[in-house]
Amino acid sequence: MIPLTRPAGPVPSPFNADQQARFDAGFAKAIAKYPADKKRAALLAVLHLAQEQLGWLPEAAMAYVGFLLDVPAVRVREVATFYTMYRLKPVGCHHLEICNSVSCWSKGSEALLKHAKEKLGVHAGEVTPDGKFSFGEVACLAGCGYAPSMVVNNYAYAEDMTPEKFDALIEKLKNEPGQNIADFPKNHDTGRAHG
Ligand code: FES
Repeated sequence: MIPLTRPAGPVPSPFNADQQARFDAGFAKAIAKYPADKKRAALLAVLHLAQEQLGWLPEAAMAYVGFLLDVPAVRVREVATFYTMYRLKPVGCHHLEICNSVSCWSKGSEALLKHAKEKLGVHAGEVTPDGKFSFGEVACLAGCGYAPSMVVNNYAYAEDMTPEKFDALIEKLKNEPGQNIADFPKNHDTGRAHG
């Protein structure tokens, strides 16, 4: 469990050398947007940055981000557990977020979720045995005009989805490496499932 108080000394980085270089470059840009004494305002952006390096947010990463921004790790954890875009356990190399809010629901997202489960052979929140794919049910992705909408690996939209288009997407992604997923101990006590 993440400590409630700030640690007395530096918190070790969870990144390898390449990840650290990318993280450091993004971190410098993120905190440059705020006054020096308000760098904690960059928390959401820096959490995204950490997640981009590891594929998800292990508590070691939350603690490290808290240390850098001078935010108690438990506060970082509160933020990370509130927003569903932060992943609290490992996902597949290709993580598909399927919207099931009202516009997408009215255009067939329930059927799409059912199809994703059958196609991938796992439930929402699980990872396929080969580690390649996972999917989650999420709230509005702001792609309502092209419902049903999905997001692939946090940034790429797939819109007007049908089961056929889903299958074609899976076939395409099978040949792409996707994200690296760090092998940290899983957080079993996060209080919510990841999306
Ligand atoms: S309701 Fe699905 S993107 Fe808005």
